Amino acid sequence: MPTQSDFDSWSAGQSYEHYMGRWSRMVAKEFLSWLDPKKSADWLEIGCGTGALTSEILQDYEPNSILATDASADFVNHTRETIKDPKASFKTATAQDLPVEDECVDIVTSALVLNFVPDHRETLIEMRRVLRPGGILSFYVWDYPGGGVSFIDAFWKAAASLDEKAVDLDEGARFPFCTAKGLGQLCSYAGLPDADIAPIEIITEFPDFEAFWYPFTLGAGPAPGYCKSLPDEHREALKALLAEKLDEGGPVRLTARAWAMKSVAWG
Ligand SMILES: C[S@@+](CC[C@H](N)C(=O)[O-])C[C@H]1O[C@@H](n2cnc3c(N)ncnc32)[C@H](O)[C@@H]1O
Repeated sequence: MPTQSDFDSWSAGQSYEHYMGRWSRMVAKEFLSWLDPKKSADWLEIGCGTGALTSEILQDYEPNSILATDASADFVNHTRETIKDPKASFKTATAQDLPVEDECVDIVTSALVLNFVPDHRETLIEMRRVLRPGGILSFYVWDYPGGGVSFIDAFWKAAASLDEKAVDLDEGARFPFCTAKGLGQLCSYAGLPDADIAPIEIITEFPDFEAFWYPFTLGAGPAPGYCKSLPDEHREALKALLAEKLDEGGPVRLTARAWAMKSVAWG
């Protein structure tokens, strides 16, 4: 029987872009505008994936430097090849063991990653370690438990009606702390009592139902990993069920909500 993280496959850069990267880029823009970071900062990013947030920072916020890290060497290689900017460097590293000295960056951040790390509190403490006094600790995660990512929520609801094992694989069940209240509690527990937490919403629009379905067949990420693992007949039944709900012959327009957090490290 599959375990909850068996389908957390983070490797294929192009597949990830189709499934998540393009939406992550939209959230990244909104997040940075809310974060309102100073220019000329030294940044550290955790779990950069295909560089959605990295490239927005480089494009609009004139960093002095940015070190983008990810646990997946495939993603780090993909992103290194994609982002050619002398201010950016890339390293394979986990959130639990950041490859930098204490107090050496102005802003540490991560996009859609915190829920996937083994220990959320320890990760926040590790993020705090690398910040200079007055630096900013920040991140955002999808609002999975609130059904906030409608395209993923629709997938898991349909999957669960055909396969009861899918209930436990749904990120809403796996990451119950990804709510405003849950993140507030986590931040207090990690010694960040002044955390500022805010919702960020985007529209995820697919030109038609086939465009909605296609990324689920590519295998990158928990829902696509599960989808790809199904026998053909089961996958077709799942597709048909989703089409019944979402295919009205035109664009499939859904909402996606993330929770963003920022906190200033005391000196
Ligand atoms: C949903 S993706 C987000 C990628 C990118 N930040 C974005 O916004 O598109 C999650 C990323 O977290 C990375 N990841 C998962 N566990 C990690 C860990 N323990 N330490 C560092 N990165 C991790 C994965 O390799 C993947 O790139």
